[in-house]
Amino acid sequence: MAEASVMEKIVSLCKRRGFVYPASEIYGGIRGFWDYGPLGVLLKNNIRDSWWRDMVECPPIGPDGHPLDMVGLDSSIIQHPKTWEASGHLATFADPMRKCSKCGHFVRADHLWDMLATSSKWFDDLLQEFTPISGHIDTERLMRWAKTKGRKLAPNLALVRNPEVTLSWLATRVNGQPDVPVEMMEFTRHIATEQLNATGLQDPCPLCGAELGPSEPFKLMMESYAGLTQTPDNKVYLRPETAQGIFLQYKNIVDTTRVKVPFGVAQIGKSFRNEVTPRNFIFRSREFEQMEMEWFCHPDEARTWYEFWKTERMRWWKSLGVKEENLKLRDHAPDELSHYSKMTVDIEYKYPFTAPDFGELEGIAHRGEFDLTQHQKHSGQKLDYFDQELQLKLKEQGASPEEIKAKSRYVPNVIEPASGLTRAVLVLLCEGYTADPNRPSGEYMRFDPKMAPIKAGIFPLVNKDGMPEVAEKLYMDLRTKFMCEYDPKQSIGKRYARMDEIGTPYCITVDGETLKDQSVTIRERDTLQQQRVSLDKVDTYMTDRILK
Ligand code: GAP
Repeated sequence: MAEASVMEKIVSLCKRRGFVYPASEIYGGIRGFWDYGPLGVLLKNNIRDSWWRDMVECPPIGPDGHPLDMVGLDSSIIQHPKTWEASGHLATFADPMRKCSKCGHFVRADHLWDMLATSSKWFDDLLQEFTPISGHIDTERLMRWAKTKGRKLAPNLALVRNPEVTLSWLATRVNGQPDVPVEMMEFTRHIATEQLNATGLQDPCPLCGAELGPSEPFKLMMESYAGLTQTPDNKVYLRPETAQGIFLQYKNIVDTTRVKVPFGVAQIGKSFRNEVTPRNFIFRSREFEQMEMEWFCHPDEARTWYEFWKTERMRWWKSLGVKEENLKLRDHAPDELSHYSKMTVDIEYKYPFTAPDFGELEGIAHRGEFDLTQHQKHSGQKLDYFDQELQLKLKEQGASPEEIKAKSRYVPNVIEPASGLTRAVLVLLCEGYTADPNRPSGEYMRFDPKMAPIKAGIFPLVNKDGMPEVAEKLYMDLRTKFMCEYDPKQSIGKRYARMDEIGTPYCITVDGETLKDQSVTIRERDTLQQQRVSLDKVDTYMTDRILK
């Protein structure tokens, strides 16, 4: 049997140990939905709490040496439907989809080549036969493949249905022109095309090989109804991003709190997208959690804040124990920008399924004044900001009354660091997963101690001779400060192995010596080193390492 990929091993460990389960599993599961098990919810809450503490309770220090002005919000998942008209989601939040003309399978148009490369059985098999990199194609081999394996794997591929015609088109394009290397994409489109003169080159379905239909928009917002009748006027949407709730409450926050531009509003919560191809475990799901912060600033300062948040957010991810070499910043190309964005940079992570490439973890977008202006227009409410400090400054500088009036009222610009909480769980799982054939578990989770779901396992070496009483007392003392587990059962090796797999950084064992000298053994997960620590110093030992 082929060795499982790293991702398969992570998914299996997550299920086996209670991090993440498929939702509704007893009914066969439901695509794109996941449940966070007893350990998964602890890990997720640790990330959530870190973000909240570092954004809202103890926000970063700004360029002026003072803590940033930041408040929190918890807005409704369902908002007035006009919200999504104003935000542009109703009109533009859609994925381009293509439908297979034969099997009806849908493929996201912009993911087609990625899908072919990563999850198409027939494409993978064909490429193992040969790689069409030269100017010469081995048509005999292709014909053999079409008549044997191709029939089973890609029955609707033009090359399989009508190999003679398809190969003759390919031969005229390629053979005899040895200096023109045929690219993978062109080769693939050739073997998917039967009637080149009538249709032009076609793209194949990753499942059955048939031609794909044209690209059509597929709406991503999930719908429901609020009210007695399920009629169009009662139609509502589950939010596809937490951000809009913040824009809707921006005015109330300015009016009821002491924030002054520049300031931020942070929110953590569920979002929903009817993703066409939910995949890669919890990377892209249909229900997920986001951690978003909208930073309202003067338009002239937006670029400076954009740079500030780029640096700050990279620093934060590293503080969770994510290695620098697994993170990178990637600027969006102009044609990739969301409808609201002036510029966006993604913080990307090297996931096992993207490596050696990287995939999105967080987006930092310069949303300009798009959202406030749109909501102003659609709601008829004024959402500009009167900047009293700027007014005073302009007065001191001797500006004219007209200039003061014009400049001290403006619609703030917004810089938005938006990350996925559930995606962050995936990052910490991938980052922590470490194969180690030299330990009984064969693998362990190298979580940063701050993030680990369980901070310490507390064991009596044997479940008798006065050891359980001491171990239980230690557990009762530590549990009020750290998430600990008391486990008196099984061999000590098995208990260590389980704690390694769930990423517990410290295992504390009460043994025969403890009863004599009041010391315990603390085993450190990553180094496997054990040291004797006096019972009354265990709390300090843990505090120094976890709450540092
Ligand atoms: N308010 C801006 C916004 O929502 P986004 O790039 O669409 O921007 C922000 O989403 C983050 O939310 C992403 O970087 C990702 O971490 C997370 N995210 C988006 N769609 C997701 C999905 N289907 N499943 C899991 N996480 C998702």
